[in-house]
Amino acid sequence: MAILAIETSCDETSVAILESGHVLSNAVSSQIDIHKEYGGVFPEVASRLHVENINFVIKEALKKADRGFDDIDYIAVTQGPGLIGSLHIGVMAAKALAFSLDVPLVPVHHIIGHIYANELSGTMTYPLLALVVSGGHTELVYMASEFQFEVIGQTQDDAVGEAYDKVARQMGLSYPGGPIIDKLSKEGKPNYKLPEVKLENPLDFSFSGLKSAVRQLMLREERHQRDIILEDLAYAFQESATDELLKRVKLALNTYDIKTLVLAGGVAANSCLRDKISNLSSTYEDLNILIPPLWACMDQAAMIGLAAKHYIERKMYGSCEISAVSNKPIETY
Ligand code: KG4
Ligand code: ZN
Repeated sequence: MAILAIETSCDETSVAILESGHVLSNAVSSQIDIHKEYGGVFPEVASRLHVENINFVIKEALKKADRGFDDIDYIAVTQGPGLIGSLHIGVMAAKALAFSLDVPLVPVHHIIGHIYANELSGTMTYPLLALVVSGGHTELVYMASEFQFEVIGQTQDDAVGEAYDKVARQMGLSYPGGPIIDKLSKEGKPNYKLPEVKLENPLDFSFSGLKSAVRQLMLREERHQRDIILEDLAYAFQESATDELLKRVKLALNTYDIKTLVLAGGVAANSCLRDKISNLSSTYEDLNILIPPLWACMDQAAMIGLAAKHYIERKMYGSCEISAVSNKPIETY
């Protein structure tokens, strides 16, 4: 069973070839260097670049996998959520390929893709808890069994990746801010203190208060004509942001009967979060903890192919009339 998977939900054009659950190739063309100039992803530019890159990336994925179009049995594609213009390019390419090759089209949810990227690290047993941390999402997803998704906690404002990127901008750092703050924080010391977040649903998240607290702290230091130590500020933000995530994960682990904990989304690449999640094994001895390899945390098509396998098992195919969906709740797959 060979799958050609396409991911174009944001600023990465990616195509992967999978055979019997194994990733044969995962070609990624990143637009980050171009969007850096704008301090974030410029949606119109992202769509145009996907149009320019998609054919080349499809060819590259096939070449790397040493496969041709005739070997492909399914075409999988990210249907949403994501930037609508970007999603449309992937969906159109997938529809054209599925039609011309006369194979089933498999529309995949981007976040379900991030969750199934954990199959690269081990066996996902159930009930499972997924901490989803990306540029657009921050949520706790409970999976009572295979392919069942229930959101039990979510952000009330910014996603954690978005907060990283916005705080980095406030600090005068480049885009994307997440990896830069992560790196800078390693040189930092615990000199600044940021407030804790309290919410009505203790499993929900909020990051806009933390972002404002960083701004307030910078203004205060400026008023006192003190230099801001960026490494220390990065350290304080990273500690606070990851503690907020950990607090909710622990509460969910204490509330629900969970066999596997997985980390999903771009912020799963964060070194501090990976350490804190791994260290939970000392408290929760029987818990199966999975964290995707670094390359699989970012947006790429291999995860869409891995998730597609589960859609195919359920014969969840899309017709030629499907369209991209920018805001797609995980419960609608
Ligand atoms: O999942 P993703 O690639 O795109 C979305 O689906 O949103 O996540 C991108 C986000 C960005 O906000 C980026 O700053 C963040 O992931 N990110 C990180 C790290 N690497 C990427 N945040 C914190 N630490 C990192 N090492
Ligand atoms: Zn993503």
